[in-house]
Amino acid sequence: MTKQKLGVCYYPEHWPASLWAEDAARMKAIGLSYVRIGEFAWSRLEPRAGVYAFDWLREAIDTLHAAGLHVVLGTPTATPPKWLVDAMPDMLARDAEGRPRKFGSRRHYCFSHEGYARECDRIVTRLAEEFGAHPGVVAWQTDNEYGCHDTVESYSDAALYAFRKWCEKKYGASDALNAAWGNVFWSMELSSFDAIDLPNLTVTEANPAHLLDFQRFSSDQVVAFNRRQVEIIRKHSPGRTILHNFMGAFTAFDHYAVSQDLDAASWDSYPLGFLERSANDDAFKARYMRVGDPDFQAFHHDLYRGCGRGRWQVMEQQPGPVNWAPWNPAPARGAVRLWTFEAFAAGAETVSYFRWRQAPFAQEQMHEGLLPPNSEASEAYDAVKTIAAELASLDACVETKRADVVLIFDYESEWAWKIEPQGRDFSYYELVLHFYRGLRRAGLSVDIGQPTAETVQNRKLILLPGLFTASDAFVEALAASEAHLLMGPRSGSKTADFQIPPALPPGALQKLIDLRVRRVESLRPDAVIPTETGHFQRWREFVVLGEGVESVIASYDDECALARQWKHYYLAGWPNDALLDCALSKLLADARVETVSPPRDIRIRDNGGLRYVFNYGPEPVDISSQVGEAQLLLGETILPPCGVAAFQLTEKRK
Ligand code: GAL
Repeated sequence: MTKQKLGVCYYPEHWPASLWAEDAARMKAIGLSYVRIGEFAWSRLEPRAGVYAFDWLREAIDTLHAAGLHVVLGTPTATPPKWLVDAMPDMLARDAEGRPRKFGSRRHYCFSHEGYARECDRIVTRLAEEFGAHPGVVAWQTDNEYGCHDTVESYSDAALYAFRKWCEKKYGASDALNAAWGNVFWSMELSSFDAIDLPNLTVTEANPAHLLDFQRFSSDQVVAFNRRQVEIIRKHSPGRTILHNFMGAFTAFDHYAVSQDLDAASWDSYPLGFLERSANDDAFKARYMRVGDPDFQAFHHDLYRGCGRGRWQVMEQQPGPVNWAPWNPAPARGAVRLWTFEAFAAGAETVSYFRWRQAPFAQEQMHEGLLPPNSEASEAYDAVKTIAAELASLDACVETKRADVVLIFDYESEWAWKIEPQGRDFSYYELVLHFYRGLRRAGLSVDIGQPTAETVQNRKLILLPGLFTASDAFVEALAASEAHLLMGPRSGSKTADFQIPPALPPGALQKLIDLRVRRVESLRPDAVIPTETGHFQRWREFVVLGEGVESVIASYDDECALARQWKHYYLAGWPNDALLDCALSKLLADARVETVSPPRDIRIRDNGGLRYVFNYGPEPVDISSQVGEAQLLLGETILPPCGVAAFQLTEKRK
């Protein structure tokens, strides 16, 4: 069984080689095991076209390895050097205004540019040949944060030609494309694939079907770009784990599809930066400004565990103030430890801190590391020592048991409802996160997965908020499942071509519940639709029930708010917390899923035989009722702010 480990991100090229051995020794001494390096070093690895300089990297890897550290080697393709851009200026991506995205930061490339892709093949091949068999190299990271800084979509010529080909492959004939997109509307019909344009710079909104296909295409380009690197690394560096570091709240490509080619998923967790950037209100931000949103990290841990088919890690963990949010507060004392154990509780193999030493130069000089630029210890440095010691004494292995409850998260649905929100604040991502928070309030540890037959196997409860379209295979799997199912709002409300289904929403899901949505409305922020318990906000639907479908909860204006047929429920709007909790508690009770109701700022996570308890609030909380007779392996029953406790679950609760 894999033991859970700590790591750090390191940039040997930023420091004199004379410092490396001392750095490595200190890393080892505080309990770090993994070091990620190299992902932005192209200009040092190949200072001029075809002139390679690998000696320094070999020395760095040798030094880390000699200190007993394992290296995760990054491919440097997120930072093409100047000589390459100058030689191939059309490799730059173009923004939606058609302007090239210039050299001078990072990610300045277009995923569709075949010339750039070949340059990447070349540098990745050379690196993998050089270091693929090095005993210190145990894993690879492809590129860095695909899509960061809005770089998935490119409106370049390369993207245009590739998009035309993609459409031709998908539709075969232009008439089929015209029919699928509904191009008769506003005389948008096209007579050949060469006539297709990219959906930017249109006078008013572009056709949603055109936009959705462009997003699907852009996502496929990321998948293909990543796959080329993976194939090269597999060939020259067999047996090493291949990962990519995904981001938080980022959805522009299908992360399940990219992960399919990887051995494991990883993501970069910056709880305070994400909170400051989020749409949460000021009171929420003030309450959690030093610990982060209590559910946001956990949501992504579960999502990326799903992407990685059980294998995942945190590649970059915030250790102190960052430089990129609107405000950059310092974490509370204990927050780094809290975040680290929240990740381990969710089954992370490794939590790796970003970064070892703060850079005194360039863009991120205000971003803290485990060491300030003068190499003294920062707060997080000392925290890591404590965490490493606790981890060793807990001796937990990576456990990723399938949960009874699964929440479906689907990237296409996110694209579709971004294209057609219909109400300014209808966000699929927020809707799914909202459901997730409801599950955390019930003390549940859940899985997140894509809408496939595999995902829904052996579950007791399946949650399907806002699924844009349901494939026949997925509907079949749901129909065959014995699980309770909660659908809606907006689930199944379009065909895959972005059209209203012939028998009205929820389209193919009508096989599971005999109702139709005859009308929808979106609601301005101060408008609510009261129901027997709680209310709808943002969005509500008017449904017509078929025979055998009962209305379980009604709205005050006598419309059905929650409908049920057998084990299948449909929620006809965006519920507030009270309504969501009421619907969930009915379903969870029917599905015989055991729940607990922890106090407001307490979060619970079961992992294998261990139950973890976390305190995200500003006050100590007595958790003795959660712990019962069990003996604490970590933490205390009066759990302080940022406190972490862990205890062994009894056999029955397992
Ligand atoms: C991540 C990125 C790192 C660094 C970090 C700063 O998004 O992967 O390279 O920029 O943010 O927080």
